[in-house]
Amino acid sequence: MFGREAVSFPTCFVQSLATLFLSQLMVSSFNPCVEEITNITYRCMELNLSGVPAEIPPSTQNLDLSFNPLESLTSNYFSAVPALRFLDLTRCHIQTIEDYAFKDLHNLLTLILTANPLRHLGPKAFYSLGSLQKLVAVEDNISSLADLPIGHLHTLKELNVAKNNVDSLKLPKYFSNLTFLQFLSLKSNMISSISIGDLDVLQGEKGLNLTLVLSMNDIKYIQLGSFEEIHLHELSLRACFENTSVMKACIQGLAGLQVKKLVLGEFRNIGRVEDFSNGLLDGLCQVQLQEFVFICFHRFDNCTDTLFDCLVNTSTIRLVDIYLNQVSAVPADSRIHQLECRTCKFSEVPALKLSFFKELRVLRITKSKYLTGFRQKFMDLPNLEVLDLSENLLSFIQCCSFYLDETPKLKHLNLSFNSVISMSGALPLSELVSLDFQHSKLHSLGIIPVFLFLGKLIYLDISYTNTHVESQCTFSGLASLQVLKMAGNSFKDNTLGDSFMKLTQLLTLDVSNCKLIQVSLSTFSSLGKLQNLNISHNKLLTFDHSAYKPLQALTVLDFSSNQLTILTEKALESLPSSLVHLDLSYNLLDCSCNHLSFLKWAKEHGELLRSTELMVCNSPEHLKNANMLNFDLSSCQLSAVLVAVYVSTAIAGVVFLFLIYKYYFNLYYGLVLLSGCRRYAERDDTYDAFVIHSSKDIEWVRKELVETLERGVPPFHLCLHYRDFTPGVPVASNIIHEGFLSSRKVIAVISNHFMESKWCSFEFEIAQSWQFVEGRAGIILIVLEDVDKALLRRKLGLSRYLKRNTYLEWKDREISRHLFRRQLRTALLDGKTEPGRGGN
Ligand SMILES: *[C@@H]1O[C@H](CO)[C@@H](O)[C@H](O)[C@H]1NC(C)=O
Ligand SMILES: *[C@@H]1O[C@H](CO)[C@@H](O)[C@H](O)[C@H]1NC(C)=O
Ligand SMILES: *[C@@H]1O[C@H](CO)[C@@H](O)[C@H](O)[C@H]1NC(C)=O
Ligand SMILES: *[C@@H]1O[C@H](CO)[C@@H](O)[C@H](O)[C@H]1NC(C)=O
Ligand SMILES: *[C@@H]1O[C@H](CO)[C@@H](O)[C@H](O)[C@H]1NC(C)=O
Ligand SMILES: *[C@@H]1O[C@H](CO)[C@@H](O)[C@H](O)[C@H]1NC(C)=O
Ligand SMILES: *[C@@H]1O[C@H](CO)[C@@H](O)[C@H](O)[C@H]1NC(C)=O
Ligand SMILES: *[C@@H]1O[C@H](CO)[C@@H](O)[C@H](O)[C@H]1NC(C)=O
Ligand SMILES: *[C@@H]1O[C@H](CO)[C@@H](O)[C@H](O)[C@H]1NC(C)=O
Ligand SMILES: *[C@@H]1O[C@H](CO)[C@@H](O)[C@H](O)[C@H]1NC(C)=O
Repeated sequence: MFGREAVSFPTCFVQSLATLFLSQLMVSSFNPCVEEITNITYRCMELNLSGVPAEIPPSTQNLDLSFNPLESLTSNYFSAVPALRFLDLTRCHIQTIEDYAFKDLHNLLTLILTANPLRHLGPKAFYSLGSLQKLVAVEDNISSLADLPIGHLHTLKELNVAKNNVDSLKLPKYFSNLTFLQFLSLKSNMISSISIGDLDVLQGEKGLNLTLVLSMNDIKYIQLGSFEEIHLHELSLRACFENTSVMKACIQGLAGLQVKKLVLGEFRNIGRVEDFSNGLLDGLCQVQLQEFVFICFHRFDNCTDTLFDCLVNTSTIRLVDIYLNQVSAVPADSRIHQLECRTCKFSEVPALKLSFFKELRVLRITKSKYLTGFRQKFMDLPNLEVLDLSENLLSFIQCCSFYLDETPKLKHLNLSFNSVISMSGALPLSELVSLDFQHSKLHSLGIIPVFLFLGKLIYLDISYTNTHVESQCTFSGLASLQVLKMAGNSFKDNTLGDSFMKLTQLLTLDVSNCKLIQVSLSTFSSLGKLQNLNISHNKLLTFDHSAYKPLQALTVLDFSSNQLTILTEKALESLPSSLVHLDLSYNLLDCSCNHLSFLKWAKEHGELLRSTELMVCNSPEHLKNANMLNFDLSSCQLSAVLVAVYVSTAIAGVVFLFLIYKYYFNLYYGLVLLSGCRRYAERDDTYDAFVIHSSKDIEWVRKELVETLERGVPPFHLCLHYRDFTPGVPVASNIIHEGFLSSRKVIAVISNHFMESKWCSFEFEIAQSWQFVEGRAGIILIVLEDVDKALLRRKLGLSRYLKRNTYLEWKDREISRHLFRRQLRTALLDGKTEPGRGGN
């Protein structure tokens, strides 16, 4: 049993490995498609497939089978994937689509059949596509719309049959079934003429809201009446005509058309630009249109041109790439609301002529590389609300009171991307809501308060305008301002000062790229509503929580590309709870463990932080360029422990050294005590007694002890500090080695001086303990006169009652002196060994 298991385990293992491997192999060989969303989206481009791969799950909604040689779609071709909503069959060599090929695809919204050489379409080819909204049959060799069996696709919104061989605009009857059709493109086909009856199905009020694109057909002729009573959303006729004479004739053929937007222009020969000739657009007088887009014409030499003659009832005119250098005759009673000229050839703003468009509400003259001058003023344009002169090369002085004082309703002024604009005083545009000066050089802004009268201004963009904010009144008057964009400028002392004090309604402030070094404490104090602050690309070193504290409504804060090292704990606490977007990338972040709380915070707030992959550490050196969020916090915890250990070790060391310093003697003494027993055995008593005394009693010691004892009979040998200690050896060591260890007895000369001296007390204590340890008759206490007896009792404690100690009192009288000497000698003689007897 055991044996069998032992054999079967590896076999089993190998088998399952093999199975795993094989199954992987099978998946990759049989399901070669890219799975973009599991069970939903599969991309099977260019895989030499000849059908829907069996591994595509039936729940698939989006399937890309493009560039596979499917050849022909037989019925029920897609029955394996009935949930499809999007199907791409671009360049699948499909020649035949049989009846019911798309059966079951009731949910299909988009079918792309681009670039298939269709030859045969079954009459029921597109049956059951009950939801189809978009059919793309571009480049399918279709020669007639009638060939497309799509009359039952009631839901179709968009039909694109561009780049085919359709030669007639005759819309088949079935179009009346396509009631939702909004977009029909026949771009780049072979339609050369349009005749009465072609668009019959579109006739009448029921007429579709249809965008009809006929661009890039070589149209030579439009029969008058073809568009009679036709309503369209948009008609695009770009690059349809050979030359202006053909164009003029064809425009006349549009008579009767009602269209919201007409796009006209360019010529068959791409790149060819024709001169505008008078009367070219005469035909438009018979067309009702709201918006006219006119593209690419060269010269308008004749100042009496008729460009606008038939456009008086048009509300919007866009001129693109029209080399118009002057506006000539403007018809009276023009109803033009909106006029745009993009890449026109004006060299000066034709303000006077344009002032004849009395209804003008929106005027845009943009991207004109010749437009440099603004000298004329707009005369009485009571309705003008939007003036956009951006992206020209305008430079003008004294903006803008002179030019604009007769446009009382002006709300939006865009002078961005021009050359130089100088302002001499406050702008008198009291209705202005938005003002854009970005990337134009502004003179005098920042020094004088030019916005004083713009109390309704909500949006101001002065980014990259060379503005240097000197004055705190720069933004005075902007009581309603919500958006202030001023990236790429500079501030006095590179400090964000108090210029924003009055902007209490501000929601968005962009001061990125302003060379800022610091932010004043009061900068944001009145910006309690601010939601967006972009202060990136500056040189800020810190995030001072008290400066940012007032920003309690902030949702987006971009602090990237500064020199911030950390957010302090206080700063983190002061971040408003509304914040959802915080960018700290490209700073000089410090990932050392000292800032553990910041690192922790960053890890826990990944959803708040943006561009986290660019939040890299700048220090410490070994973590340089590592991603901050990948930082391993546990490494810090470990080292925090280490740090704690280091610190406490250091403290303990210091304390230890201090103690050693303070209790050096005691320690040393303790050490000697411990080794005392050993030394005791080796001892040879050099002295009879070691004298402990105060240095102030030295005279007494010399006279009464040294002279009487050392010179008496028998002579006693005393050990005295001043005489017998080895020089250069620490005092404590001397006391112990020379004093106690080498002496049989200790004489303590107790006087008031003795008791005052700490040193004597210490020596005496050692003597007492020594005696205690060695158990020897030891101390001879000599109490000199006049000693405070109470103090003495306290100091000497029990010593004088110990049996082995001798207690002598010294009295300076002849009899007492004699008795004293005798007693002292007796005490010293006690325990004196005969030579060879040994200790104890
Ligand atoms: C995909 O479909 C299969 C079979 O219907 C199912 O088992 C699986 O859970 C689905 N996977 C996902 C991610 O929905
Ligand atoms: C595509 O598949 C067919 C068979 O289905 C095969 O004959 C042909 O060689 C394949 N072509 C390529 C390029 O792999
Ligand atoms: C396009 O269709 C025509 C017949 O309508 C056929 O003669 C021609 O070969 C087809 N072209 C392609 C590229 O299949
Ligand atoms: C229009 O739709 C109706 C109802 O679906 C259908 O019977 C008719 O055949 C369709 N017309 C064309 C031309 O397909
Ligand atoms: C008409 O069609 C255009 C797109 O072609 C669409 O934007 C517009 O909303 C439609 N209008 C109506 C009334 O359906
Ligand atoms: C314009 O083109 C048409 C058709 O190609 C041609 O007949 C006519 O001569 C051309 N007219 C001019 C003025 O070039
Ligand atoms: C301008 O047009 C008028 C009439 O339309 C004509 O008399 C005059 O000669 C034209 N001038 C030029 C320079 O073409
Ligand atoms: C403009 O509309 C008015 C009435 O709405 C009409 O009388 C006039 O003919 C129209 N002009 C043009 C050029 O369509
Ligand atoms: C002003 O014009 C510029 C350039 O066309 C454009 O990017 C900007 O959005 C415009 N400003 C406003 C406020 O619309
Ligand atoms: C902040 O300004 C910088 C440069 O001026 C820009 O790249 C960035 O996208 C802005 N940030 C936000 C959040 O808009």
